[in-house]
Amino acid sequence: MAQLFTKDTQAIFWNNNASAIQRMLDYDFVIGRKTPSVAAIVAPTADSKFQKFFWGGDEIMINLYKTTAEAKKDYPNADVLLNFGSFRTAYDVTMDALNMGGFNTIMITAEGIPERLARKMNAVAREKNVTVIGPATVGAIAPGAFKIANIGGTIENIINSKLHRAGSCGLVTRSGGLFNELSNIIAINADGIAEGVAIGGDRFVGSVFIDNLLRMQDNPEVKYMLLLGEVGGTEEYKVIDAVKSSRITKPIIAWCIGTIAKHYSSGVQFGHAGASANAERETADAKNKAMAEVGIYVPESFNDLPNKIAEVYGKLKADGVISEIPEPAMNTVLKVRRSKQFICTISDDRGDEATYAGFPISSVATPDTGKGIGDVISLLWFKKQYPKWATQFIETVIKTVADHGPAVSGAHNAKVTARAGKSVVESLVTGLLTIGPRFGGAIDGAAEHFKYANDNNLSPAEFLNHMKKEGIPIPGIGHRIKSLRNPDLRVVGLKKFAAEHFPATPLLDYALTVEQLTTSKKDNLILNVDGTIGILMVDMWRALGYSETEIDEFISSGTLNAFFIAGRTIGFIGHVLDEKRLAMPMYRHPMDDILYQVDMAEEI
Ligand code: ACO
Ligand code: LMR
Repeated sequence: MAQLFTKDTQAIFWNNNASAIQRMLDYDFVIGRKTPSVAAIVAPTADSKFQKFFWGGDEIMINLYKTTAEAKKDYPNADVLLNFGSFRTAYDVTMDALNMGGFNTIMITAEGIPERLARKMNAVAREKNVTVIGPATVGAIAPGAFKIANIGGTIENIINSKLHRAGSCGLVTRSGGLFNELSNIIAINADGIAEGVAIGGDRFVGSVFIDNLLRMQDNPEVKYMLLLGEVGGTEEYKVIDAVKSSRITKPIIAWCIGTIAKHYSSGVQFGHAGASANAERETADAKNKAMAEVGIYVPESFNDLPNKIAEVYGKLKADGVISEIPEPAMNTVLKVRRSKQFICTISDDRGDEATYAGFPISSVATPDTGKGIGDVISLLWFKKQYPKWATQFIETVIKTVADHGPAVSGAHNAKVTARAGKSVVESLVTGLLTIGPRFGGAIDGAAEHFKYANDNNLSPAEFLNHMKKEGIPIPGIGHRIKSLRNPDLRVVGLKKFAAEHFPATPLLDYALTVEQLTTSKKDNLILNVDGTIGILMVDMWRALGYSETEIDEFISSGTLNAFFIAGRTIGFIGHVLDEKRLAMPMYRHPMDDILYQVDMAEEI
């Protein structure tokens, strides 16, 4: 790949380093990127599922994942890993990503990864043709396209250093601090940089000078290169060889810092782990001299570097190799931004017409749209367009549980409340609040326990024993009046629908073997309507391609009971309106229906 990054490059950011991510997003916004450069964040210990960031004056949500694999699964096109793990975890995170595949570039920020591990990691990356930037680096930038974390500093500094759009220089340094300094010098003396990499200060870094310069040689946007080496190591000699063999033909300006080292009696270790000369060849002076000998532009001193840049740039411009770069329009980031208090991901009322998960209400409301309440539920509860068989199943459930007469606990409570003079809404919620583990609210529990038993290959007898140990009746089994002799025809109807329309019903098939055992003990221990709904919803979601984690989340958040709540609301309202219509007086329970056994309270 001639270009390290483009305007479409997206990264997975390992570790929720919010300020660095915000800097990347601010940069994206300023340069007018369409998509955020950070697609996902891996935050192994985070409890939340997303984090809000500013996107200009607005806000966006970026998903948080526990592992790189999960993030990569959802964002397969994100081919850059920004590894902000500490020196203790950075190696494992990198190796994990290398083994996983799908990453072109991995940037490692940690300083001090054990050298043995760094060498192994770099060797594997090289084998797999993955560009590693670092360890111990601030990263890289392709101005106007993609910037890693804090490289280039603040937005003001970035614009001053012309890092908001591509220039002509390919810049490679070891140091991150000097990278920023040089970007500024290049902006003042030339037209900015086309691509820049700070390769990192550790002794064993992944991509070295030559790797980056060879890529820049092949990148048509780069017209000349600037290499800032330093005392220690022999990497600059590979560049010299490439110039000698004409593999590199673009002009290179280069300087090795650390020339002062010769004034010390023994080898001096400068700031970076790699910045120490172990032989004459590794001194800054020797390398500067050797580079100048093959025609690389080497200044007299670091102070002379700006003049050298101006000289080379001026020549290339005069020769017509470099032309004037038009300044692009830029967005500005507001100084004061307000974080939003609420988030909504299901509907939007800001336009002319409100939408349900992107669909205008008029596109689902009227009969001519062909959409029903199942479609509306699939949009507003699940943010998906379910296929017809699934939306029709949802509708079948809603209609099936709409009412079961006045005697059931919830309807009875709603009726008593209405007769006490309460409003429709008050009476309704009284009925709704009756829904629970014994009445209508066993659907989530049924899905959870039957799924657990089936996932763990428990035989029906083992499942019953397991539930006995748990000390709770099996949710979804048993009914007060329905039994083998008096079957619940709602259950028959739901099973028939599933047999005719579901691709497969493995969990229902398992549940029916459990029912055989429970009904052999007592004939009212049937798979009841709650159980059938819960189990078939799991079969539906599996057929729709949901992951087990997603299904478990639906169950634990109470989604399944919500189908009963939605359906039975219709019936409860009917009963309340019935009471109002009949103008029924206040209800008092007959005393002869109550067993009174009240003893005199003992004195203590
Ligand atoms: N799992 C295991 N054993 C059960 C279950 C069950 N789900 N339900 C009842 N039993 C057993 C009881 O332990 C009891 O055994 P015992 O006679 O040896 O003591 C016997 O069956 C009768 O128990 P009761 O509680 O008297 O049964 P009842 O018919 O009154 O209860 C109920 C009905 C409340 C629905 C009960 O079966 C239950 O709790 N089921 C689980 C919850 C459930 O699915 N509720 C939704 C029902 S459908 C709806 O509301 C829309
Ligand atoms: C219902 O749907 O409300 C019933 O299954 C419960 C009952 O007691 O009939």
